Amino acid sequence: MPTLAIYPGSFDPLTNGHVDIITRGAKLFDRIVVAILMNAEKAPLFSIPERLEIARVVFKDQPNVEVDTFDGLLVDYVERRRAQVIVRGLRAVSDFEFELQMALMNQRLQPRIETVFMMPAEQYIYVSSRLIKEVFALGGRVHGLVPDMVEERLREKRTAKV
Ligand code: PNS
Repeated sequence: MPTLAIYPGSFDPLTNGHVDIITRGAKLFDRIVVAILMNAEKAPLFSIPERLEIARVVFKDQPNVEVDTFDGLLVDYVERRRAQVIVRGLRAVSDFEFELQMALMNQRLQPRIETVFMMPAEQYIYVSSRLIKEVFALGGRVHGLVPDMVEERLREKRTAKV
């Protein structure tokens, strides 16, 4: 049976760390779905349609990468999609506690589903969407840490603000 993996997250915005994990996942699983959580943050920088568009453009040439949105419990979405695996990226020890809690809660909610942790390439270990937004907002360079399209969109947002 083909293995379908779900890679859930906020992706506000998509970083090269996410891209790295998705690319690795696409080699390991038959299909991987980038599942963007709707309504996670009250004031996201990128709207859901923007996040969907960015991920779809970035992965347009990878036929086994799909981009979708979900709402509600992650395990319910994974069940609906008949997927077997949840993929999460693990960067540093600081990620571990929250990820362990989520993986064990999801395991309790739906024991059929396995969470698989993947490490990004070392150059992305410190990259997070939150830091990207903060550094960019304060005028710092994020080139190479996010897809070019994200950098362009960040610039457009800054121009629109002034
Ligand atoms: O990119 P993030 O913000 O770290 O992703 C967190 C995400 C989306 C994986 C998590 O918040 C989630 O699964 N939310 C859906 C609601 C849910 O199932 N909550 C219980 C998780 S144990």
